[in-house]
Amino acid sequence: MATNAAAAEPVTPKSSVASDFYERLHALQMIGLWEMYGEYSKVVKNGLLDEPPYMWRWRDYYPLLLESGSIGIDSDLFQRPEQARGGVERRNLVMYPTGNPAGATCTTMACGVQYIKPGETAPCHRHDPAAIRFIIEGRGAYTAVEGEKFHMEPGDLILTPRWTWHEHGNDGNEPVIWMDGLDSPFVLNYLHADFWQPYRDGYFPQAHAEGHTRRRLGNGFVRPMKRIAERALPVIYPWSEVYPELIRQRDAAENVDPYDGVILEYVNPVSGGPTLPTMSCRMQLIPAGQSTQTHRHTARAIYRVFKGSGWSEVGGHRIEWEAGDVFCLPIWTWHSHGANRGEDAILFTMCDQPLLEPFDLYQEEARQ
Ligand SMILES: [Fe+2]
Ligand SMILES: [Fe+2]
Repeated sequence: MATNAAAAEPVTPKSSVASDFYERLHALQMIGLWEMYGEYSKVVKNGLLDEPPYMWRWRDYYPLLLESGSIGIDSDLFQRPEQARGGVERRNLVMYPTGNPAGATCTTMACGVQYIKPGETAPCHRHDPAAIRFIIEGRGAYTAVEGEKFHMEPGDLILTPRWTWHEHGNDGNEPVIWMDGLDSPFVLNYLHADFWQPYRDGYFPQAHAEGHTRRRLGNGFVRPMKRIAERALPVIYPWSEVYPELIRQRDAAENVDPYDGVILEYVNPVSGGPTLPTMSCRMQLIPAGQSTQTHRHTARAIYRVFKGSGWSEVGGHRIEWEAGDVFCLPIWTWHSHGANRGEDAILFTMCDQPLLEPFDLYQEEARQ
């Protein structure tokens, strides 16, 4: 605030204070509350000052992602210079609008696309931001969390809770692409909880057989009685289980919401709450040829079109989209969606609603 304060022009020029009053006040890293009224009135008038509905088209960024494959994953480019060893060591293109805080796709969340070729590995590290992976194309790659491998198929979602050791690898025979989603803009830019650590030996030893956590968690209806002591576990949500549920819900007309179509939340099986403490992941289906009514809410969202094509109206902008496209929904912005004829549109969403609800800051409104 000190920097802004120094730059702010007083909005009360008719003042009885000494001419250098503001200069002396700002030198103390302080500001008159009345100096900020101009900023407040912008907020009240326009809704919160936030991002426009940025969009990234698959057909634009996919060729660049493939080109990035010529950079070896062990390249110095992927090393964090301040680390004695280790680094980010991931071939990842981040959706990062110019002017946003570091690495932020929107105010609270970040997303990118990661590309891993057969035989490549991304060494183990852990950090305070929590992450999700949503698999886009290819088979044979895995994420290992705390020494347990999770092989991933297109449409699968896997959670890497905060401060869990994780690494990736591709032991299949085709390249694999997934979407990474993190709460890092909130955790790093607002809480400054920038804890990050490479694993000392590069790769975490295998600690469990594949399927270990799934067996502890059961199938979502029943699970072993043994108490789970951890606050969070890595969870994989297979597309093979999510998709039939999406279709079951679509075929029950009462479950098609006028504002969201069919929308399912990935429930965290440990907490029973949202996917992660900071992010709710959802899978949304707009039936072919149908559209939603318009609403707005204080939660932001990043959409990734998984299947089909259609359009969204976001804050007066019409966005035409197709599979692979990514776009942002800013806070408190009117929006509606429609699917083109011939095929249901399926949208994967990351939403920051869990950040707002504990403070009673979540609200939504339907356009009349
Ligand atoms: Fe990571
Ligand atoms: Fe919405």
